[in-house]
Amino acid sequence: MCGIVGYIGSREASSICFAGLRRLEYRGYDSAGIAVVEDNELKVRKVVGNLNNMEESLKTKALPGSLGIGHTRWATHGRPSIENSHPHLSCDGKFAVVHNGILENYQELRSQLKSEGHTFKSQTDTEVVAHLVEKYYDGDLRNALISAVKDLEGAFAIGCICAGSPDELLAVRRFSPLVVGIGETENYIASDMGAIRAETDKVYVIDDDEVCKITRGGIEITDLDLNPIEREPYVIPWPADAAQKGGYKKFMHKEIHEQPDAMRACLAGRLSSVDKPITFENIGLTVDEIKGFKKIIFTACGTAMHAGLVGRFLMDKLARIPTEGDLAAELQQRDPVVHEGTLCIVVSQSGETADTLEALRAMKAKGAKVISVINVVDSSIARESDGVAYIQAGPEISVASTKAFTLQVLTIQLLSLYFAEIRGTCPPDEMKRLKAAILAAPGQATELLKREDDIIAVAKKYYKKPNAMYLARGVNLPSAMEGSLKLKEISYIHAEAYSAGEMKHGPIALVEPNMFVVSIACEGPTYGEMIGNIMEIKARSGPMIAVAYDGDKKIRMTGADPDAPADDVGSQPNDMIWVPRTEEYISPLLIGIPLQLLAYHIADLRGEDIDQPRNLAKTVTVK
Ligand code: F6R
Repeated sequence: MCGIVGYIGSREASSICFAGLRRLEYRGYDSAGIAVVEDNELKVRKVVGNLNNMEESLKTKALPGSLGIGHTRWATHGRPSIENSHPHLSCDGKFAVVHNGILENYQELRSQLKSEGHTFKSQTDTEVVAHLVEKYYDGDLRNALISAVKDLEGAFAIGCICAGSPDELLAVRRFSPLVVGIGETENYIASDMGAIRAETDKVYVIDDDEVCKITRGGIEITDLDLNPIEREPYVIPWPADAAQKGGYKKFMHKEIHEQPDAMRACLAGRLSSVDKPITFENIGLTVDEIKGFKKIIFTACGTAMHAGLVGRFLMDKLARIPTEGDLAAELQQRDPVVHEGTLCIVVSQSGETADTLEALRAMKAKGAKVISVINVVDSSIARESDGVAYIQAGPEISVASTKAFTLQVLTIQLLSLYFAEIRGTCPPDEMKRLKAAILAAPGQATELLKREDDIIAVAKKYYKKPNAMYLARGVNLPSAMEGSLKLKEISYIHAEAYSAGEMKHGPIALVEPNMFVVSIACEGPTYGEMIGNIMEIKARSGPMIAVAYDGDKKIRMTGADPDAPADDVGSQPNDMIWVPRTEEYISPLLIGIPLQLLAYHIADLRGEDIDQPRNLAKTVTVK
């Protein structure tokens, strides 16, 4: 796991690269390095350990030059050391490269290059790139990098500079994330947009096998055959001071509205098209391990557990791996069987929750492989996991989690499809449909947020009720649990969530006019049964809000006399929350959003302190 940055302009490249590396430190921190071009020479600074050491080094001795590349390393090939730190140089010291990813054929390339007379200084896979560029260079750096890249197998985002070319910064990627930041008379490269957000809000998100030739005045993107590629700049939606409320009344409200763009950031570099495989770098799992998993255990607390429960469903259904889900505080009580091939997936926004951290340690001690789905970079859980899938939600300030939930669900959906793709357990047609549904989700989320006034109208009808019940079946049972948790924690309305199948086994006794029921009844495998449950509740005078797909005509006919007028809600849901149609397994990604808005507006109408609900803390670091 590594981070790369680069800068070309008129300011000191080492300072800008260093600031970018600071924001990429979550990607690795066992060594760092910066190379700059100054007076047609490459100057390189490397340190072992975290970036404080680089800061000290740059303070002690400046590294001038207005073209540079930087790297923060998470060792994969070769131990953390100065020799193994990037940037790596060619034999003649004229070409420097930084690389994030893993080159699968580096051993063959290394032997070949050695036989041609190249000498290697490190044990890394990356060093071959510097030597390949040197080998192919005939006066044109871009052509040399393209020839080098054509020899590579594996994953890479590469930044490259040349001592004799002080006016160009080259970058290329395949399966590892890369963005190019757009400035006025200066430009940037980085592993993620957060690294350069302080400098610019406009980036090009680079795709596989695209090469960028970046000068002070422009950016040329081409394919490996030098065909030009037109790309719309992506405007980074979150401000440099993303932790500010930005015009919203409450952080929770702002964070609910950030979700479509946060989804896009989470997808960047992982899923770009239905025809391309999902990529997940740095999750610390080999293809053979993923093929060999025999059991998965999801563990987390609260909202994060609800996302984990979506994962329990999907890993079983799509990746065909027997999957369990336990609250972190309960996992050890059960003393689960862990054998070879057991993967534990820990979900946490903060990465610091005490019960979750303890569950992680217990699972590791039992010999499970542990990966985590985390928001806060470099948090304790992230550091102690074998691999991390960051959800890329940006800072979440509101105590009630919203965007982190949605992005945990999205990351877990991507992970499940990634596993399914590697294991070959999901038919290609279904895989395409699910990928298409995920790619459509950010736009659908925007559409859902435009319907906020409809939710406010519903909230106005129910906010005085003392009790609520949320019902669903299948993959949306966790959505019901999350909707109910959101309502109770910020409005203090007593709310319960049940599988609708459980109603007749007890909870239906609670139904009466003062308890409103929210039923998730989107057309899909459980639709018919949900309709039956809605009728049972309506028959007992329970006020009902139903969540259904746009264009569902049947739901409002539920049990009604077909001759009754449409506003006769005697046996129909009293109110509707309409959601854009999507695939069943992807639907929790969208259904959570109106339920967050419903909880928010009910709490707002009740005049509650939404961002600081009573008795709750954002991060629970005690058991
Ligand atoms: C509810 C909420 C909590 C957290 C839980 C775990 O809105 O935010 O239920 O989900 O405390 O926290 P993390 O995800 O930080 O481990």
